[in-house]
Amino acid sequence: IADVEDDITEVLFTQEQIHAKIAELARQIEADYAGEDLLIVGVLKGAVMVMADLARELKMHITMDWMAVSSYGSGTQSSGVVRILKDLDTDLSGRKVLIVEDIIDSGLTLSWLQANLRSRGPESVEICTLLRKPEALKVEVDVRYVGFDIPNAFVVGYGLDYAERYRNLRSIGILAPHVYS
Ligand code: PRP
Ligand code: MN
Ligand code: MG
Repeated sequence: IADVEDDITEVLFTQEQIHAKIAELARQIEADYAGEDLLIVGVLKGAVMVMADLARELKMHITMDWMAVSSYGSGTQSSGVVRILKDLDTDLSGRKVLIVEDIIDSGLTLSWLQANLRSRGPESVEICTLLRKPEALKVEVDVRYVGFDIPNAFVVGYGLDYAERYRNLRSIGILAPHVYS
């Protein structure tokens, strides 16, 4: 799909690099939750690809559930208030929960979500994110598993969108300025 890739100025991570990193994260998760009944929670829609690949990489019993939350709006001063659009179907009482995300940017979504899930009586709620932008963080987030720390650039692909596009790219790259300027 040549014309889509014209919109990418630099590939940050290829398909192979992403899958190698997800395998690495899976080995850590298997070790940390050995013998446990783990629930992984994907945050729609960006986390769909990471969830699909991480889940298939994990050689242990897991269950999967999904949440959809509203973004707090772009361009305006962020309040950090998040609204639940689709809640979990799972009762979290006594459960070990791992939230799976594609990216932590300001950290506002995840810090809110982690606190929200921790208020539901689980045994633990940890976070696994494929990407993190240390320079963009506005709040501290207690993250257990991080794939890659990346510069503060507009990245798309592998679930990450710009205006809902580019989620289907197999690699992760920096979006060309001509797309949004
Ligand atoms: C993106 C991304 C994370 C969140 C990170 O989701 O997938 O969920 O933003 O940003 P933050 O750290 O600044 O809170 P988005 O709201 O764009 O929805 P999407 O997953 O449907 O693309
Ligand atoms: Mn998201
Ligand atoms: Mg998005």
